[in-house]
Amino acid sequence: MLRNGLPLCVMACAAALHAGSTHDRDFFENSIRPLLVKNCHACHTSSRMGGLELDSREHLLKGGNSGPAVLPGKPDESLLIQAVRRTHPRLKMPPQAPLRPDEVAALELWVSNGAIWPETAAIPAQFANIRLYLRRASPALRSQLIQKDR
Ligand code: HEC
Repeated sequence: MLRNGLPLCVMACAAALHAGSTHDRDFFENSIRPLLVKNCHACHTSSRMGGLELDSREHLLKGGNSGPAVLPGKPDESLLIQAVRRTHPRLKMPPQAPLRPDEVAALELWVSNGAIWPETAAIPAQFANIRLYLRRASPALRSQLIQKDR
């Protein structure tokens, strides 16, 4: 038990770290994800306008035809921020109407703090004991948690 337990814990803890703190997760779920869904997903999921999908951190970092959409910690240099501020010479997003200033500010803060994008690796608060969480996780979720951090 102990022999298997430790590496699992190390991997799961790393996965939890990658997914951000509870505060980061709440901020993302309350302020960022709904904003992207409402204002950007019509054109930046499967339709991939500009070659860009805005549905995962991986896709954001990979970016579209012009390169990475986000440089974590560097809002001023991030294409996505330049586009929503409408300071980029060509890209003004969303195309129809600007976001509200508080929405732009939320995106700036999110990128400044590392563009945390919590996914299934988020450990629910009730599973304070990480090994208990992993023991209860389905095999598919467990391998997903572990692969996420490779
Ligand atoms: C109505 C469709 C539409 C919506 C909604 C939209 N975009 Fe776009 N977006 C485009 C198109 C089309 C392009 C390609 C424009 C070009 O290359 O000149 C693009 C390009 C981009 C790019 C540059 C991609 C690249 O690498 O060239 C970024 C960043 C971007 N959009 C961010 C956003 C964000 C953030 C939102 C939501 C706040 C958003 N867009 C909403 C249509 C849309």
